[in-house]
Amino acid sequence: MTDRGRVLGIETSCDETAAAVVERGRTVVSSIVSSQVDLHARYGGVVPELAGRAHIELTLPVVTDALAGAGLDRRGRSFTDPDGPIGIDAVAATIGPGLIGALLVGVSTAKALALAWDVPFVGVNHLEGHLYAAMLEAPEAELPVVVLLASGGHTLLVALDAPGSYRVLGATVDDAAGEAFDKVARYLGLGYPGGPEIDRLAVSGDAALIRFPRASTAGVFDFSFSGLKTAVVSYVRAHPEVTNADVAASFQEAVVDVLVARTVAAAEEIGARGACLAGGVAANSLLRARFAESFAARGLVSYLPSHAMCTDNAAMIAAAGYFQLQRSGPTPLDAGAVPDLQLRGSK
Ligand code: KG4
Ligand code: ZN
Repeated sequence: MTDRGRVLGIETSCDETAAAVVERGRTVVSSIVSSQVDLHARYGGVVPELAGRAHIELTLPVVTDALAGAGLDRRGRSFTDPDGPIGIDAVAATIGPGLIGALLVGVSTAKALALAWDVPFVGVNHLEGHLYAAMLEAPEAELPVVVLLASGGHTLLVALDAPGSYRVLGATVDDAAGEAFDKVARYLGLGYPGGPEIDRLAVSGDAALIRFPRASTAGVFDFSFSGLKTAVVSYVRAHPEVTNADVAASFQEAVVDVLVARTVAAAEEIGARGACLAGGVAANSLLRARFAESFAARGLVSYLPSHAMCTDNAAMIAAAGYFQLQRSGPTPLDAGAVPDLQLRGSK
């Protein structure tokens, strides 16, 4: 690894094809994301077979663009010094969790490049990538921080103690927060993905109209959203006159209430310096506002990633890959993709 610590990251776990070049896990040099959301929208969800095929078409062009953004040609050499050394120190790719056919495209591409360039390959847990996303935009952040990672597939509370060192404090016991948004949106006949639709609609609704349940769980930092989804369905059946805007606002209020309360409790428990949002649900406007307010009121810093850092991208994979390489070395080239990979603590 040179001093620049330049990692090429590749992300193909779901419906975004992404590549990025990041230095020392902190500085984004280039980041390219090609979203397939339009491709899947008319099916109301990601179609694995279509995702895999789109990744095959898009991965090399996206990687080429990311390299170009870092001043490198497709052979990994500087445009200004085409006979010089390879300008990448390691190649990281998401190995899981995700769709197997989608993951394999990024993993195979990353291994081939690592082999051709004779640099280490690092297989990264996608969820660990999300943990570093907000930090990429706040390199000055003081640790430990508590990270609320809320996406379509996961809802996790994680203590990030140092780069590369984290502990899982709690998780959803049933549906993920994003999944609850998507399912309620679908029930209300809104578009896909449902989170942004509910976010938009809620602005014109009355969040105090319906008091939906805030489920408690055995683990103090765990979450449960499936009862809430059922409560929405029962309420709408019993009150056909209620508007979608009021249901969306009241539902969103219940989700955000629980997410913020648990994160605040976790931050207090671990003596965190601040708190970070991560994952697709971090784009939610009410969640961002409440999160910022609640931590400011306690004298703690909150880190709210930009929209591009909330959703899937490869800069976060490159950053996670850099810290993983420092801590545990390269991943063997015969390691496979792991569709159901879990996030466990690093210790
Ligand atoms: O992290 P992400 O892009 O994909 C993974 O699941 O890995 O998250 C997508 C999820 C979807 O469930 C989507 O509905 C939700 O994030 N989401 C939102 C918003 N934007 C995206 N949920 C609530 N409010 C939003 N503004
Ligand atoms: Zn994700």
